[in-house]
Amino acid sequence: MEQLQTIKVALLGFGTVGGGVFELLEKRKEEMPDKIGVEVEIKKILVRDKSKKRLGIEQEVFTDSWNEIIEDEEIQVVIEVMGGIEPARSYILEALCAGKHVVTANKDLLAEHGKELLDTAAKYGCDLMFEAAVAGGIPIIRPMKQCLAGNDISEIMGIVNGTTNFILTKMSEEGMSYQEALKKAKELGYAEADPTADVEGYDAGRKIAIMASIAFHSRVTFFDVYIEGITKITEKDIAYAKELGMRIKLLGVAKHIEEGIEVKVHPMLLSKEHPLANVADSFNAVFVHGDALDDAMFMGRGAGALPTASAVVGDLIDVVRNMKFHCNGRIGCSCYKEVPVKKIEETSSKFFMRLQVKDKPGALAGVANVLGNSGVSIAQVVQKAGDGSFAELVVITDVVQEGSFQDAITILGGMSMVKEISSVVRVYA
Ligand code: NAP
Ligand code: HSE
Repeated sequence: MEQLQTIKVALLGFGTVGGGVFELLEKRKEEMPDKIGVEVEIKKILVRDKSKKRLGIEQEVFTDSWNEIIEDEEIQVVIEVMGGIEPARSYILEALCAGKHVVTANKDLLAEHGKELLDTAAKYGCDLMFEAAVAGGIPIIRPMKQCLAGNDISEIMGIVNGTTNFILTKMSEEGMSYQEALKKAKELGYAEADPTADVEGYDAGRKIAIMASIAFHSRVTFFDVYIEGITKITEKDIAYAKELGMRIKLLGVAKHIEEGIEVKVHPMLLSKEHPLANVADSFNAVFVHGDALDDAMFMGRGAGALPTASAVVGDLIDVVRNMKFHCNGRIGCSCYKEVPVKKIEETSSKFFMRLQVKDKPGALAGVANVLGNSGVSIAQVVQKAGDGSFAELVVITDVVQEGSFQDAITILGGMSMVKEISSVVRVYA
């Protein structure tokens, strides 16, 4: 009887995702020969401290030496789930140069060095797969590269950070303060000990850069993305959103319009009827518009050990299938265009602005005058009774160029009748 082939794999990192990948591969072990015609074995796991006891796993599988992996000719696939830029970047490049296929969940790396990594993979005829890097377990990279390849994708919009979606949901539905919701997100393991990348929008910025590059066939890096996080959103903004029949979500938005690509991450007010407005807690969702498909939404778990492992193991299975048919490197970099990325001032939005103005005749007219002179048209105004000296004014604009709106804000901020511009949030139009 013919000997069943075993594909040997190295895992770089054994944290949340690494542990999940190990668990899932163990669970599917018996089924692999039927599923893909080969056995899959994790031959080595790279960690910082190899002496740490890990229940149920033989100690000799662990190594703290990259050389042991790169020099091992039996290892044909490397799964990088360590995170960070270095040494992950160097290890992946070395693995590809040595003809080893790579699966990674590393969005930080892809959003900054995607071109270098994909070009290297192509040069050496290797697969470089990264489904888990965007929206964890939700399939979105492969659908865009393969199933939607016949479309001209003009827009992608998504909730791609679970921590911030959880925080905004708790603030909106349970009346929690930002600090209380963040504490809860940490307790539940959604937010990292240092949640800066989540709450400041950097994590979502990396994911939208990767998705925009694939959707529009033109390289977009993390540094091209305009980013605002959720740290300035207050309980009052959430209450106004409710009053207006809307919800606030942190969205990654990428559009391909005639003059170029718009790519940004910021909080946005959405009508509560919009499908993304109803994506709650730590769930992620990505909304795609293609000329043939029209609208589609992909929703699910964007983080966590097993949901992320689901995407990593799916990639690994694809790599192995390609190996069996000697067709690795079949789907590489798809950026064959060079489309300019627009500056934020050149993009357009509708705005919600909350400001404190002197409670006296002419204040509202003064604000309206400044907006009008800057070419900002008002769609709606709400004025709340103040304390006698100041009143709160909420203005919703029509769609306006960001540059014009920012000019108006600068003028308003300098006016004696304006005490404070408390919030500015974009509104979906
Ligand atoms: P994690 O829990 O912090 O685990 C990272 C692991 O890598 C740890 O075992 C760490 O070892 C090891 N490691 C880090 N640097 C190393 C080095 N220089 N040499 C050897 N080992 C090293 O991280 P994670 O949450 O699993 O995330 C891993 C990757 O997946 C990141 O790129 C992340 O962005 C991505 N991702 C994560 C999720 C998620 O839900 N967590 C979802 C999608 C994508 P020590 O334990 O010794 O520090
Ligand atoms: N920290 C991320 C989130 C998970 O909260 O969505 C990893 O992508």
